[in-house]
This record gives sequence, structure tokens and C-alpha cells, in this order.
Amino acid sequence: MLNIAVFASGKGSNFKAILDAINSGQIRNARVAVVISNNSGAGALVIGREYGIPALHMSRIKFESDESFATGIQSVLSSYKVNFIVLAGYMKKIDPSIIRAYKNKILNIHPALLPKFGGQGMYGLRVHEAVLGAREKESGATVHLVDEEYDRGPIVLQKRIRIDNGDTPESLAAKVLEIEHEIYPEAIRLFAEGNIRIDNHKQVTISR
Ligand code: GRF
Repeated sequence: MLNIAVFASGKGSNFKAILDAINSGQIRNARVAVVISNNSGAGALVIGREYGIPALHMSRIKFESDESFATGIQSVLSSYKVNFIVLAGYMKKIDPSIIRAYKNKILNIHPALLPKFGGQGMYGLRVHEAVLGAREKESGATVHLVDEEYDRGPIVLQKRIRIDNGDTPESLAAKVLEIEHEIYPEAIRLFAEGNIRIDNHKQVTISR
């Protein structure tokens, strides 16, 4: 059983897509135990409360140091018996101690076809501006495991979409978000069913 902590900073539409997939039975063997946000105004916290899920605002400024912030998060994770972490539009770096404690158990979603258009500073509309600026013919979304290298962890799932002539960063963002809502629940389903293997060379194998 995956006992998931979702980390989110924004609207939380991916978080909602995941909850809907759990509630409809598309994902079995998984539940969201807690949602954590650095942003007290995050839509994700509102969604959590609507669904009766503990929704916590945890901000670095409430702690004395990076270490005590990481320890605070770790103790929340252990009190909710979290064994899997899903980053859904979380804008803060995850402390390396948490990445080590949850090796191969933290997922992120990125609104482009990694390894292109990722890395520090590549978030929100900037990603889509860069994709259009590079005159790419296609874009997409990537679900990947989180390791110490920003946006560089092993790729689990990717889905592509065609870029049309009239696309703007905003229209592209909307199209990509739609496929995010498909592949994020699907990736979590694969983990929940034990169908993902990651070997020592960070090679991901999916059996379905
Ligand atoms: C998504 O585009 C995701 O790829 C990125 O942040 C955005 C989150 O959107 N990491 P939402 O809060 O899930 O609606």
C-alpha cells in the first residue's frame, strides 16, 4: 500500500487528478495520507481539506535552519507513516536527507520532455516560452524520480503532444497540463501495483 505525501505549492490540479484516480478505483493500493505546502494560500491545501486529507502549511521561515526544517518535515512524514512522496508543483527544493531517506520513492512531474527544458529556473510559463523559442515541433510532460540532480532523475513516463502554429506559452501550458493529469495518476498506479523496477544504474523497467 502506498501511503503518499503530496507536496504542492500552487493550484493543485495534479493533486486533484491523483485523488480522483484513487477515488474512482483507477489507482488501487494507494492513499494520500497528507498534503504539505510551503504556501499557505495554495489551492492544493484547499483541495486537501475538501477531500478530508490533513493539509499542512510548512514553510522554511517557521524554522531556524534548513536542518530543522528538514527534520520537521521528516517527523511529519513518519507520523503519517508516509512511504512514497509525490511532488505536484512543489516550488521548493527537497532536502537531500529526505531524498536519501526516500530513495526511488519520490516522483515529480515536469511540463516538458526532459532532459530538454529542465533545470533550475525552468518552471511555469518559462518552460513553454523556451520550448516555443527553440521552435520545437512537439512538447509534453515527464514523470521522473527525484534524486539530488535537479530534473535529472530517472524518467518513468513521458507523453508527447504536437505544437501547433498558433500556440502561445499559455495555450501550450494548458495542453501539457491536460496530459499531466493523465500520466501522473498512471505513473502512481504503476508504482502502487509494483510494476516499476529501478536497477543500480538508475534504469527504469516497467512491466504491465
Ligand atoms: C504543473 O505544470 C507541473 O508540471 C509543474 O507545476 C505545475 C503544477 O500545476 N511541476 P498544478 O498545481 O498541479 O495545477
